[in-house]
Amino acid sequence: THTSVADLLAGKHQVGEQVTVKGWIRTRRDSKAGISFLAVHDGSCFNPIQAVVPNKLNNYDNEILRLTAGCSVAITGNLVESQGKGQSFEIQADEVTVIGWVENPDSYPMAAKRHSIEYLREYAHLRPRTNVIGAITRVRNCLSQALHRFFHEQGFYWISTPIITASDCEGAGEMFRVSTLDFANLPRTENGAVDFSDDFFGKEAFLTVSGQLNVETYACALSKVYTFGPTFRAENSNTSRHLAEFWMVEPEIAFANLDDAAELAEKMLKYVFKAVLDERRDDMEFFAQRIQKDAITRLESFISQDFAQVDYTDAIDILIQSGRKFEYPVQWGIDMSSEHERYLAEEHFKSPVVVKNYPKDIKAFYMRMNEDGNTVAAMDVLAPGIGEIIGGSQREERLDVLDARLSEMNLNQEDYSWYRDLRRYGTVPHSGFGLGFDRLVTYVTGMQNIRDVIPFPRAPRLADY
Ligand code: 4AD
Ligand code: MG
Repeated sequence: THTSVADLLAGKHQVGEQVTVKGWIRTRRDSKAGISFLAVHDGSCFNPIQAVVPNKLNNYDNEILRLTAGCSVAITGNLVESQGKGQSFEIQADEVTVIGWVENPDSYPMAAKRHSIEYLREYAHLRPRTNVIGAITRVRNCLSQALHRFFHEQGFYWISTPIITASDCEGAGEMFRVSTLDFANLPRTENGAVDFSDDFFGKEAFLTVSGQLNVETYACALSKVYTFGPTFRAENSNTSRHLAEFWMVEPEIAFANLDDAAELAEKMLKYVFKAVLDERRDDMEFFAQRIQKDAITRLESFISQDFAQVDYTDAIDILIQSGRKFEYPVQWGIDMSSEHERYLAEEHFKSPVVVKNYPKDIKAFYMRMNEDGNTVAAMDVLAPGIGEIIGGSQREERLDVLDARLSEMNLNQEDYSWYRDLRRYGTVPHSGFGLGFDRLVTYVTGMQNIRDVIPFPRAPRLADY
């Protein structure tokens, strides 16, 4: 049995106890007095533990002195209090077993201490060994556990919605097709269109862009539900905040209006930010030091502030009156771009802001029509430093209004018959939203590019591994 570096450094073992730790060498330093210092990490926390290795060990000359970054080892010895600054405990090694050597250490891609984040992106299989990716991974895990815990505590059920689907929830036509057809010999119908009737599902199928439509069916029975899974968008957006495969958290609540959804979003974000500050202090301190100066303070102020709320129409006025020259001109009806969103959150409100009631023409078919006939009960949550991280709405629960929207948008009623049934049989007002999980991790860590906060990013021309 062996123990984790995290437990050792946190003082969960007694001084004087014999312990074994297994991990990888980060650095080796040799003193003139014939002692070597090994920094060993195992991913359980930010800091490595130091092992002090005396030259009396019988493999000292032929093995210890050949250890390089990346070698895997098992170290047994006495736990002692450390004299060194910034570390609590260290191991006085009695035995160091080399488990795996690093071939040709000079060409080991992770050998040097600091690499640019762009360089690391070329090595998605080795970058988890670095400080920065290790820290991101633990923060990402902490956030996802905290989200599940939040919803569990609030009485929500986690629903597994399908990844393969026939419906385009957002209606943006950005779906990846799933098919077993032979592309070289696509079967055609009489009018020349591809004939999917002999395809695996007997019709066109896609990777889902959102679990929302499916999770609505469960909200209309179990009241408070959420889905948390991968979603896919064939957007041609080569940006630092878009992925072709990303994870989304989508709560859906019955008997709830747009304000209820906004309130839930605020509670949820504050809850998970608090969790990460409590549970991953070590990693957050690293981000504050190396990646984003105010990484910690901005989460603290996020938690302590009330979110601002503004109507889309007023937000557009604010942008126009700002006198700012934006790259994309501002007028009522536009889909705000990130420069607009960031102006609102960072410069005008200086706080997270919920923008509500967007023009219907830029929003999906399922959003509830407002009295004015021009806007829908939609909301986006904009965060300073990143822009939109949440998009949501109250859903159209009135069958006649929904049907009018479907035909206005040239969507086929039959394709949505099951969705319409929810409005035919005991319909209720209901609302929900989607939180881009990878955007959340980007925001919390202060990383510049969303491709660095997901283990294996997928983007246009990027599907390695
Ligand atoms: O605003 P979106 O498109 O909303 C929906 O999909 C709704 N069906 C959600 C719902 O009401 N249940 O996406 C929601 C969030 C965005 O705010 C953004 O954070 C993230 O998903 N997102 C992306 N994240 C990474 N890469 C992309 N390509 C993303 N597209 C959206
Ligand atoms: Mg959106």
